[in-house]
Amino acid sequence: MSLPENTFVFQRRLGFPHPVAVRGERIYIWDADGRRYIDASGGPIVVNVGHGVAEIARAMAEQAAAIAYVHGTVFTTDGLETYSAQLARHAPMDDPRFYYLTSGSEAVEAAVKFARQVQVARGEPARDTVIARWGSYHGATLGALALTGRTSMRHLYAPMFRDQPHIPPPYCYRCPFGATYPTCDLACARALETEIRRQGPGRIAAFIAEPVSGATLGAVVPPEGYWPLVREICDRYGLLLIADEVMTGFGRTGRWFGMEHFGVRPDVMAMGKGATGGYFPFSITAVRARDVETLRQTHGDFNHGGTFSHHAVGAAVALATLRYLEAHDLVAAAAVRGSYLGRRLREALDDLPCVGDVRGIGMMWGVEFVADRKTKAPFPPQRAFARRVGDRALQKGLITYPGSGCADGIAGDHLMVAPPFVITEAEIDEVVTLLREAISEVFEEESRQ
Ligand SMILES: Cc1ncc(COP(=O)(O)O)c(C=O)c1O
Repeated sequence: MSLPENTFVFQRRLGFPHPVAVRGERIYIWDADGRRYIDASGGPIVVNVGHGVAEIARAMAEQAAAIAYVHGTVFTTDGLETYSAQLARHAPMDDPRFYYLTSGSEAVEAAVKFARQVQVARGEPARDTVIARWGSYHGATLGALALTGRTSMRHLYAPMFRDQPHIPPPYCYRCPFGATYPTCDLACARALETEIRRQGPGRIAAFIAEPVSGATLGAVVPPEGYWPLVREICDRYGLLLIADEVMTGFGRTGRWFGMEHFGVRPDVMAMGKGATGGYFPFSITAVRARDVETLRQTHGDFNHGGTFSHHAVGAAVALATLRYLEAHDLVAAAAVRGSYLGRRLREALDDLPCVGDVRGIGMMWGVEFVADRKTKAPFPPQRAFARRVGDRALQKGLITYPGSGCADGIAGDHLMVAPPFVITEAEIDEVVTLLREAISEVFEEESRQ
């Protein structure tokens, strides 16, 4: 049963016949026709604990029945307090405090507003700019879009936001400096210092980046030494370091948070997606207690808000999700089964001439497609190669997360494979087989063009 012709829903993909989803369990989704799909990406890398977890649904229902909504300026709830204490054990930050919102974009916006307000409170009101990176994704709202480094998403709205400076990403497969690690001397990290000096050191409030590049580059892991050098530069110039862990958080990389791989503690973190594994829209901005205290003493409060902030049901769902991750040791499972997934993807796709790179970490993998393996020339963007592979995989009952723009913001095709952590090795084999078929078929079609 597909989208009816006369739908009143303004669908996400216009003209695309959306099947009607009716049920989910572990890595599987069923539609109204009884067709089964393997959700090998958890949508846009959201579903970490898997679909259909009864205890999470129960926690949601119990909280909603007890008290669904109270305003965050008046009440707190047991769930919110317990969850925050539990999360503090995992967040790689010094004495963290958590501010709750509903989407990753909102968590990012709160993070940059907080950084700005802290700088003002410290007596540095000229620090009104946040440096971000090209090849990044921080969200679709106008403030988050000003930070996002994906040209194809920005150009229509660019006249409507105050743009922020961007530096090149750590992307060794297509090094923006034409260099090779380690002789590059981490030019991508040093670019931060260059940009700070160019803008004027007293003007920069913060630097924001994804620990591992997500939707725009497709699971690109920075080289060793990158994050410690960035941390050092931020400290030297008085910038707050914001880690956008919206995609990498809650076990996706095989550790609780992506920054743990690099031994660096951020000053602010944005989280979302896996916090509730898709069961409820919920996001988190983590900050240091001492910065909250600075705001309290100078301005009295954080100048921010939101009707659905600090949501009672969201907190109950997040607590149940965190407990499920812990009880089933799923972060460790993401590391172990994720490395199996990476190995199988590399083995199975290696001989396909259109596969330029397979990269990733934990349960977060990216496959980059190229028209020419030697020159790394991308397919023309209008061929929508990754999108077609994603659609072909869907026809085969496999859900992946295709993306574009990795080469230069517009051209460049990649596809992410990032299933729920409960996937088995046999299921990973099936994912890899179906994906290989989909890529081969689309490449064959493309070759006939
Ligand atoms: C790293 C990162 N930041 C922010 C966002 C925005 O999150 P949301 O779509 O929930 O607003 C995303 C979403 O893909 C993301 O991957």
